[in-house]
Amino acid sequence: MNWQGVIEQYRRYLPVNEQTKVVTLLEGNTPLIPVPRFVDAIGGRFELYLKLEALNPTGSFKDRGMTLALTAAKTRGAEVVVCASTGNTSASAAAYAARAGLRAAVVLPHGKIALGKLAQALIYGARIVPIDGNFDDALNLVRALGDEPGVEIVNSINPFRIEGQKTAAFEICDALGRAPDFHFIPVGNAGNITAYWKGYKEYHAAGRVGTLPRMFGWQAAGAAPIVENRVIAQPETVATAIRIGNPASWQAAVAARDESGGVIGSVTDGEILHAYQLIAARDGIFVEPASAASLAGVIKAHAAGDLPAGSVLTATLTGHGLKDPDTAISVSDKLRPPVKPTLSAVLEVIRG
Ligand code: F0G
Repeated sequence: MNWQGVIEQYRRYLPVNEQTKVVTLLEGNTPLIPVPRFVDAIGGRFELYLKLEALNPTGSFKDRGMTLALTAAKTRGAEVVVCASTGNTSASAAAYAARAGLRAAVVLPHGKIALGKLAQALIYGARIVPIDGNFDDALNLVRALGDEPGVEIVNSINPFRIEGQKTAAFEICDALGRAPDFHFIPVGNAGNITAYWKGYKEYHAAGRVGTLPRMFGWQAAGAAPIVENRVIAQPETVATAIRIGNPASWQAAVAARDESGGVIGSVTDGEILHAYQLIAARDGIFVEPASAASLAGVIKAHAAGDLPAGSVLTATLTGHGLKDPDTAISVSDKLRPPVKPTLSAVLEVIRG
């Protein structure tokens, strides 16, 4: 049967029933792609598979949770969904609200949203509220908005979001026929690492896989509250998607780390941008900077000798590179001034 979205595919693991009218854009079923050239480039002797969440309908993993969240909001008779966002949640909420026939309002840190994400929220028709503050300020405001009548919060503090996002772990196990030994994932508001760990545990409990992965989460060094064990008042990183100083799912992420025997570490902006360019150049995969934190983490864990030969690794690539064209262009030194429209001038550039 054709793919019908994550709710239909994993219905028995999700909080829905026969009467539920599903709001979906047929999210999920994203590729799990091996990247041997990247592994060679870093001298690894493990297998690495990347979960390309960029190939969801709005270009990020958020769609998995948003199908559940908007389905629930619609069922409950909400009129407007609200979220704080570093960009992707707002894009996804806006799209799924349009699909559900509801209004979306998104509270965003002014000047810190990648261009493509802003374009998405606009074109899907969300009411955009830029604030002179960061994501953490925006989320505090949204928590208060949740008390208003007819309003449903669709940040990952809404448990339906986590329920939907756990389906990525199911898909990885289905594709591999087993659980990975290690799972690498970026950590921002910490909902996704929480969701994956829940998914892996539920599949294990259901007897679908015999083992559990160690969860290796990665924050940006300038926005690493869990690593530093303190709230970061002014988080800063090139990976704007994970520019968060006080994650909502902090304790759940720590539990995922500790229960799985894993790690939550940090990677610098330099390490993130190196991984960002390497995966594009070696394997033809263009992700946004926050997603490259997963891969910077693989490089770092490998350098530390933490990844035994023959291990099976998976890493989540959370969002599409096209969402943030400014960063791609700014890290590239290959954009040249125009030349004369002659064969010799063109050949000179190609050969040079
Ligand atoms: N990668 C991308 C591309 C993201 O957009 C986010 C979070 C993360 C990683 C981190 O996931 O928050 O579950 O730990 N973006 C949120 C947003 C905060 O508003 O779009 P997390």
